[in-house]
Amino acid sequence: MIKLVIASAPGKVILVGEHFVVEYEPAVVAAVNLRAKVEATLREDELTIIESLDLKKGVTLARGEECKDFQLKPIHKIVEEITKLTGEWKGINVRISSEIPIAAGMGSSAAVAVAATLAISKAFGLELSKDEISEIAYKAEEIVHGKPSGIDNTISTYGGVIAYRRGEGFVPIECDFSGYKLILADSGIPRSTGEMVAKVRALRSRYPKVMEPLYHSAGRLAIEAAKAIREGDFVKLGELMNINHGLLSAIGVSNEKLEIMVYTARKAGALGAKITGAGGGGCIVALVEDGKVEKVAEALKKVSKKIYVLEVSMEGVRLESS
Ligand code: MEV
Repeated sequence: MIKLVIASAPGKVILVGEHFVVEYEPAVVAAVNLRAKVEATLREDELTIIESLDLKKGVTLARGEECKDFQLKPIHKIVEEITKLTGEWKGINVRISSEIPIAAGMGSSAAVAVAATLAISKAFGLELSKDEISEIAYKAEEIVHGKPSGIDNTISTYGGVIAYRRGEGFVPIECDFSGYKLILADSGIPRSTGEMVAKVRALRSRYPKVMEPLYHSAGRLAIEAAKAIREGDFVKLGELMNINHGLLSAIGVSNEKLEIMVYTARKAGALGAKITGAGGGGCIVALVEDGKVEKVAEALKKVSKKIYVLEVSMEGVRLESS
């Protein structure tokens, strides 16, 4: 009997350091309790069938055929990479479903790539380490975002809260977020991470001397934020998130809608609020004590398309069934 493998991986919220992390500054990111799920089943023929329930589309590809669908191409890349490792062509069905909103700054593409890497590799009878899963998912992410920092695939693989530095890797941060929630508010404005990264890069190259200290400051801020998390000092973490938001505005990734959401969250009692992810649209994140969740959530509902009250999740990629 052909067996079904199911794997899942979490979405993420960057607490501090997005964009700056692209230029090798440290950033702090948390996995959250929204997950992407991927089912993989070997086929008796040589076809690769990829289906996304969220995107409401699918592709059927013959052996060696190129995937022309931009959104499903990363998953096909994962099939190809794993096939290279096994050295044997096998047909497969891959089915994707995700709770993580798309293009909102919550790492949905990386979570799908990480879960797909585990599900497909298992179906092909391959045992990959977490590092290998993250590396293959990064190759899929390159198709979506150009040259991403690697923070999204790393957090989705390992879970918890980590301090990440491009080129150096990550350290897990010991933490206890019980008593606190992350409220995400979606602006409803879609945007492309790759385009936002290019926009920031262009500004940086026009004003290198002005921008350099901002990057340095963001790096110091991430180190302070990691310490605050370790010490359970959420008031300090909130303040640092606010400062980080100011830096993100300075590098040009905020807009009126995002500012309104950030200030609404702060006014309603959030400890801190900022853009999370690439900005330009997508989500803001507010750090909120449990006692104030209702008030902040109600206020944000009035100025955003959708809100998510999330918890930090210690679990990274996992097998659901095999
Ligand atoms: C990642 O979710 C957001 C950015 O920092 C890009 C990256 O790290 O590759 C803007």
